[in-house]
Amino acid sequence: MADNVKFTDYDEINCLLNDVVSSVRDFTENQLEQIRRLTQIGVALSAERNIDRLLELIVEEARRFTNADGGTLYIMSGDEKALQFEIVQNDSLNVRMGGTAGEITWPPVQLYNEDGTLNYSNVSSYTALSGKTVNISDVYHAEKFNFEGTRKYDSETGYRSRSMLVIPMRNHENDIIGILQLLNAQDSSGGKAIPFSVESQELTESLASQAAIALSNNSLIKDLENLFESFVKTIATAIDEKSPYTGDHGRRVVDLTMLIANKINEVKNGHFKDIHFDKYEINELRIAAWLHDVGKVAIPEYVMDKSTKLKTVFDRIELLRTRFEVLKRDMNIDYLKRKQDKSEFSDAEVSHEDYNHEVKKLEEDYEFLVAINKSADFISDDNIKRVKAIASRKWMMDGGWQVLINDDEIQNLSIRRGTLTDEERDIINNHAAITFKMLSQMPFPKKLKNVPIYAGSHHECLSGEGYPQGLKGDEISLQARILALADVFEALTARDRPYRKGNTLSQALKILGFMVKDNHLDADIFDLFVKEKIYLNYAKKELSPSQIDKVELEKIK
Ligand SMILES: [Fe+2]
Ligand SMILES: [Fe+2]
Repeated sequence: MADNVKFTDYDEINCLLNDVVSSVRDFTENQLEQIRRLTQIGVALSAERNIDRLLELIVEEARRFTNADGGTLYIMSGDEKALQFEIVQNDSLNVRMGGTAGEITWPPVQLYNEDGTLNYSNVSSYTALSGKTVNISDVYHAEKFNFEGTRKYDSETGYRSRSMLVIPMRNHENDIIGILQLLNAQDSSGGKAIPFSVESQELTESLASQAAIALSNNSLIKDLENLFESFVKTIATAIDEKSPYTGDHGRRVVDLTMLIANKINEVKNGHFKDIHFDKYEINELRIAAWLHDVGKVAIPEYVMDKSTKLKTVFDRIELLRTRFEVLKRDMNIDYLKRKQDKSEFSDAEVSHEDYNHEVKKLEEDYEFLVAINKSADFISDDNIKRVKAIASRKWMMDGGWQVLINDDEIQNLSIRRGTLTDEERDIINNHAAITFKMLSQMPFPKKLKNVPIYAGSHHECLSGEGYPQGLKGDEISLQARILALADVFEALTARDRPYRKGNTLSQALKILGFMVKDNHLDADIFDLFVKEKIYLNYAKKELSPSQIDKVELEKIK
């Protein structure tokens, strides 16, 4: 210990040291607290998915952080020529604009003057163009910038704008995507505007960069969602466009599915009173509805759109017509020949009546085949016998006798109901399996993970007679059952199919009723569909007035 230091000096030095240590501790703790806050804000910002709330949160947190009375958030326009007002907040003036409070209609701040020069006179524009933070203690004495607008606003509101902190917000690519402007930092008593300190400037710059990242993440996610959404719709539309027989099927099945699902969420009584789809589940079902027939992309059109029994790429009834014409021509030649040769071969004469009778019979046979080819009704055993009898007739081609109708044509003309052979029906039914196969190979995010299951089960029946898996009862999800009913009802009522008119409401509901009785469709969904008049809401939008007939409920259940 030095001799010239008095005891009291040590006390003072100790005191001084203690003060220094405690100030350093206070300062460090304060810094740590600020950093902790900054981290919390970062977490909160990155968790917010609602863009309006996110924008508000950025201004709210930045203001709280700097104790600022006001704050404005500008976002760079798409063409990078202007700053659009997104959020305006001011506590003293009780102002909350933009975000969840609705769009701000103020004109954007232009980054370029009318003569094309850069607009450095506006402080926000300057920050956006230069990328530099501006910290002003009193805007009324800042000569570098034009604050006429601010003064005008102040004179209208009685406010006094003073300190201002303007910070650029940069994304991960270092592009400026917005400007954060804070106004009038408050002293600790809250009554007086003070300048923004260098520390608060630095911390707010950190906050702004976190906010910029959260904003770009948000918009990247939105962009991807939009891309995905339009991709899904494009695929569904392409499937519908592929065939004139499907019209606007995809979009209408989505609408119907949503009507049913939203009604399930709405009802407070009955079977569905405790069932609620959250917004993610609704979205998952909506996407499944859009994609439910995606497997049809792999089904050849000539099978998908087979409108007559003999149709392949073209309708083979035309081949039959040619053969009948050849046959008729040969009969005629034969008749004329025999007539000419009558004197030599009297026994070979064919009477005119007989000839006419034969030609008439041939024409009737052809007309019969035309009718069978187009028929959607049940084909009887007698008719099939007649097809086979006609088929066995011979006609001459390339100098040899050929059967009039070959085995494959007989098989097609003998289809009992509709236009499809069993093999062709299998090919079409396979679209549901292909839907599942295609979709299950796509890396759907967690919130859409059930899309392949719902979409791939839209032709399953509760009875187990559906396809592709033959699932039964509870094995079929509620979502897939909704989709199944929507799919059938749309098909029954569609009025844009070239081969038939859409059923009326009462006819369509009656058929649905039968399908419920046969345990194909879900009875509770059907009850809701009828009781809550979902069919009518849909019909008003999609069906022609002539289809909207009176529905007598007792007749459809
Ligand atoms: Fe389907
Ligand atoms: Fe469908």
